[in-house]
Parts: sequence; C-alpha cells; structure tokens
Amino acid sequence: MKSTAAAPVVRPRVAAVRRFNRFYTRQIGLLDEGLLNSPFSLTEVRTLYELAQREKTTAAELCKTLGLDAGYLSRILSSFEKTNLIEKKESPKDARQTLLSLTKKGRNAFAPLNARSEEQVKAMLGQLSPKKQDHLVQAMQTIEGSLAREAEPLRSYVLRQPRPGDMGWVVYRHGILYQQEYGYDERFEALVAGIVAEFIQNLDAARERCWIAESDGENLGSVFLVRKSQTVAKLRLLLVDPSARGLGIGGHLVSECVRFAREVGYRKIMLWTQSELVAARKIYQKTGFKLVDRRPHQSWGRNDLVAETWALRL
Ligand SMILES: CC(C)(COP(=O)(O)OP(=O)(O)OC[C@H]1O[C@@H](n2cnc3c(N)ncnc32)[C@H](O)[C@@H]1OP(=O)(O)O)[C@@H](O)C(=O)NCCC(=O)NCCS
Repeated sequence: MKSTAAAPVVRPRVAAVRRFNRFYTRQIGLLDEGLLNSPFSLTEVRTLYELAQREKTTAAELCKTLGLDAGYLSRILSSFEKTNLIEKKESPKDARQTLLSLTKKGRNAFAPLNARSEEQVKAMLGQLSPKKQDHLVQAMQTIEGSLAREAEPLRSYVLRQPRPGDMGWVVYRHGILYQQEYGYDERFEALVAGIVAEFIQNLDAARERCWIAESDGENLGSVFLVRKSQTVAKLRLLLVDPSARGLGIGGHLVSECVRFAREVGYRKIMLWTQSELVAARKIYQKTGFKLVDRRPHQSWGRNDLVAETWALRL
C-alpha cells in the first residue's frame, strides 16, 4: 500500500474507514488471542494458508504475496520448521533457491483451521437473506477491487495463443475460483472441461480463437471466441486471476475477441453469463453488449442463480 496520498482525503472519510475496520476486525474474530481457537497468530494462519495453496513455494514468493517484511516472515518460517509444519528442500533447478512445502503435520494443522474459518463465514452469511448475502459479497469485491487496483503496480502482460497445458489451466482455475468465489461445485468444472474439449477437438482455426493473458511466464487470464453459426460467434470462459484483477486485463481480453470477430466476418457475438458476475457484466456493458434474456436456474449446487444472455451487434 502506498504511504503517501495523492488525492485530497477529508477527515470524515478517514473516520468512516477506521470505524469499519474496527467493526470488521471484531466481527471476524481478529481480536481474539489465537485466531480460530488455534495457537497461531493471524500472520501465521495466513502464511499456512498460502503454503497450503501451493505444492512448493519460496520465501520470496510468500513475502510478495503476503506483503510481509522478509525478516518477520523468516522468523515465522523458522518456527514452522522447528515444529515440523514445513520442510525445506533445495530447488532441483536452482541450487540457490530453497523450496518450502507443508509437511503432513502442517497440512493436518491447517485443515481444521480452514474448516473452522469456512464455518465461521458460513455462519455469518447464514444470518442474512440470499439477497443480502449477494450485496455483501459484491460490496466486498468492490472494496477489494478499488484498493487492489491502487496498490498493485501495473503489470506488463501479453495476450497470446494457447500452448499445451493452457487448456488444463483454464479448467483448473475455473474449478477453483468459481468454487471459492461463488460456491459452484465440481459440475461447473465439468462444464468448463466439456467446453474446452469441444474447442480443441473441433477447432475452426480461421474463425475461432483462445487468448491467454500471461505475465512473467504466469498465466493470468483467458477468453474464447467460438463459432455458433456462420454469422454469430460466442464469447466464453472469460477469467482473470484475482491477483491480476482491476488492471484492465478482462476488458482487454473482451475487446480482443470483438476485434477478431469483426475481422473474420461475424455479425453478432452472444454470451451466456450469471447475474452475480458483476465485474464481467460491467465489461460487457462498457463494450456495448445488450442484455437480451434473463432466467432463474438451479445448477452446480446453487438454487438461486439467474442466467443472462447478452448480445453485441458488430
Ligand atoms: C470478470 C473478470 C474477468 C474481470 O477481469 P478484470 O481484469 O478485473 O477486468 P477489468 O479490470 O478490465 O475491468 C473490471 C471492471 O469491473 C469493475 N468491477 C470490479 N468489481 C466490481 C464489482 N464488484 N461491482 C461492479 N463493478 C466491478 C471494475 O471497476 C472494472 O470497471 P472499470 O474499468 O469501469 O473500473 C474477473 O473479475 C473474473 O475473472 N471474474 C470471475 C469470472 C467471471 O465472472 N467471468 C465472466 C464469465 S461470463
């Protein structure tokens, strides 16, 4: 987070943000001595969480992800190593690098914390109607999007054609992110796997395309443009990794689809989305797509979804 403010900030706003911080830290139990009735501090639990998300990682990567001071993180990692929660191994690719991973004991220590955290949030959301839950989640995404955009320096990235392994990445990230962010179960991942398999097997290379957004060798996003008929194309599987959201990559992927669709002679682009995917809706609206149909449905373990069809005349 930048320490100097570029824009004028009035005191009542500062007070409002501080009030919210006090309210929310109490609400989610951050003031309790050990987080989630565990012996761990908040920073230790966050470090365990990041280790559990990756098979192997490095201290430098954890420092970057958590925004922690290297010395502080190093003390946490040493205590994890002493208590056999993590193990360190030399990287086979680069002997100067040490790879960190959770041991079985570490995974066993993390699993109940993760479950308790999930239960805690479920209980908090469960006090609200589905509509209010929706508002809360959207408001949280707005906070995250606004602050992340300011904090993150603009990353340079490229949009490129897919390579072997990318399609698996698309399925994998959709499966994980839609489960984490919207609670869709594995049937959603199966749907994505089906779309991807169909794309590979029946590709019309002249009129269909997939773009992968990549930065420093890391995949950040995807979108597909596929043929529905001679004159109509479909935009599918738009996704940007949370670490790279709010930087314009999603908008860029969609505008690339539109440019290509025009170039190869489609007259219209259709897409199918869900009403709760608010950031995507915003991009579609800005690009000129119009909402043409809305219908409630029950899918992927959710019974309160509203599917939307959007269309853009080219
Ligand atoms: C939709 C998605 C691809 C956008 O990626 P992105 O790189 O962050 O997109 P951009 O930075 O180009 O633009 C996002 C826009 O949504 C807005 N936005 C973000 N969160 C929002 C929210 N909760 N409510 C309203 N608008 C929101 C941003 O302000 C931005 O608009 P702006 O440029 O006018 O400020 C990404 O959020 C994502 O992967 N979401 C989950 C998957 C998904 O919904 N896919 C669509 C499938 S149909």
